[in-house]
Amino acid sequence: AVDVIRTVPELAARVAAWREDGERIGLVPTMGGLHGGHTRLIRAAKERDEKVVLTLFVNPTQFGPDEDLAGYPRSEAEDLELARIEFVDLAFVPEAAEMYPPGFSTRVQVDYDEDVLCAADRPGHFDGVAQAVTKLLNLSRADSAYFGEKDWQQLQIVRKLVRDLNIATRIVGVPTVREGDGLAMSTRNRTLGAEHRAIAPRLFAEITRAASRIAQGEPTELACVEAAENLIIAGFSDVEYLECRDAERLRIAPSPGHGARVFAAARLGGARLIDNVPVPDL
Ligand code: PAJ
Repeated sequence: AVDVIRTVPELAARVAAWREDGERIGLVPTMGGLHGGHTRLIRAAKERDEKVVLTLFVNPTQFGPDEDLAGYPRSEAEDLELARIEFVDLAFVPEAAEMYPPGFSTRVQVDYDEDVLCAADRPGHFDGVAQAVTKLLNLSRADSAYFGEKDWQQLQIVRKLVRDLNIATRIVGVPTVREGDGLAMSTRNRTLGAEHRAIAPRLFAEITRAASRIAQGEPTELACVEAAENLIIAGFSDVEYLECRDAERLRIAPSPGHGARVFAAARLGGARLIDNVPVPDL
């Protein structure tokens, strides 16, 4: 079975021993509910690093008061079995009180020019992500940490955080892993009923179509609005945003040059699905 560690001092001891031996450490932070996207991150880490630390932690501080913290899918036994099969060296599975003991009071906030995309719809969400990720980077003393492009905005925020706070870890972005029908793999896909699961791939299909129309010179507004309308017609209950923005600073990209992406968040039944794709170079 994979080594499971639940406390900070035990993790610190293991990591210190590895560093003394000169082992390169890779960190894969997750909230559990593992799927093929997470597996890809673990494999990327195994390729580059000698020791891979996987974290399973449903971080309460990144969930809003009306969000699905209690209902977030949990599958620790299956996750640890997958970790074993993928040769993870250590799984760090802390309780919330281990990460945020009584008296904990430090916030980590990455400011942008304005709150865009998920930051607009989920106030405080990325502060919670930044807080948890900062702690996990410091605890693991990782040489590299792996994050999925599926959560593109999160990846950019983590890159910014590490630059601004001089954290020595290299941040590695990993391409989005999709189901055969294009749906981006996500823990939240488990909450989709059969009817909604059948509709869900339309999110990827519509942003891909919008991206290719934008590449062909169609005004971004028009391509994005039509894609959002199509999602509503297909059965999505709400499109929180569907926008073309530059890849790094996430500013609105009216006539996108190299590096623009189309980003979307939409609700389907009780689930909130997000995805993003590059505007292709033609
Ligand atoms: P979670 O949603 O479990 O995702 C963990 C990591 O897996 C993230 O870096 C995410 O981008 C990546 N990932 C998820 N689905 C993917 C897919 N289909 N293809 C490739 N990578 C994918 O994101 C979080 O957890 C949390 O916010 C966390 C960073 C752990 C902080 O609490």
